[in-house]
Amino acid sequence: MTAVTEAVGRDDHYCVFGNPVAHSKSPRIHTEFARQTGQALVYTAALVPENAFSTAVHTFREQGGRGANVTLPFKEEAWRLSTRRSRRAELAGAVNTLSFEPDSIIAGDNTDGTGLVRDLAVNLGMRLEGMDILVLGAGGAARGILPALLEAAPRQLVVANRTGARAEALAAVLCGVGAIRGGGFEIVGRQTFDLIINATSASLKGDLPPLPDRVLRAGAWCYDLMYADEPTPFLRWGGEHGAGRCADGLGMLVEQAAESFLLWRGIRPETTTLLHALRFGS
Ligand code: ATR
Repeated sequence: MTAVTEAVGRDDHYCVFGNPVAHSKSPRIHTEFARQTGQALVYTAALVPENAFSTAVHTFREQGGRGANVTLPFKEEAWRLSTRRSRRAELAGAVNTLSFEPDSIIAGDNTDGTGLVRDLAVNLGMRLEGMDILVLGAGGAARGILPALLEAAPRQLVVANRTGARAEALAAVLCGVGAIRGGGFEIVGRQTFDLIINATSASLKGDLPPLPDRVLRAGAWCYDLMYADEPTPFLRWGGEHGAGRCADGLGMLVEQAAESFLLWRGIRPETTTLLHALRFGS
């Protein structure tokens, strides 16, 4: 919590709560957004013990904090702590952006899905409408992106997960938003897809979700929500199985941050230059 108690000064103060959080690129991203848009704010990273999230948020607010991002493992707890939630946060069951408003209101939103869709549609030039999309995984990361993906009107969205019942349950919650089916990896069957998104945490362990060899259509895309200096096992798999293009989640990270910044400051920062700098280390 040391980062929270320092550097409030006269600038508005925001932070990212997480555990671990030292690796977070959010302070750099938001500091750059603030510089670019001329906003007077300070953004720091706050390492929170696993059982102290609620206390950390309330303390930060009492010290003058204006809002916060929330990363693993606190997104579901942030959802519970929010006293008002956006529709997309409600559907996602997780909150990554808190705004402290008058009358003790903690407004919770989830910008992950919008961030992903903006990266796909704006940065990568993909037209999601009418696509057949396969999402791998049914945990918190998948749940955060599915509502926004469905709202982009794909022809169908199939969610495949190691534990099939979790994907079925997610599809049942979201079936009012669009065409979605969920199940175990066998649900993929012999279908082919225009876009496969890896939302499992398998990459963290160097694992790969089991996929049939011929599941990618000609020119299909592979997208991994994870990002790393080296291609993830899933993106390597895509390259070996004829993907037209592969992308990692760095663009989504920057875009979800831009969406949070917009919520807090009412101005959308430009993202292309920063994304390039993060990607190529300038
Ligand atoms: P997160 O918030 O990152 O989504 P999570 O809620 O623990 O974390 O979910 C992790 C996801 O990755 C789940 O879909 C999990 O599958 P299960 O629901 O069957 O646990 C998936 N996952 C993790 N390791 C995996 C692996 N080695 N192969 C395939 N799927 C894996």
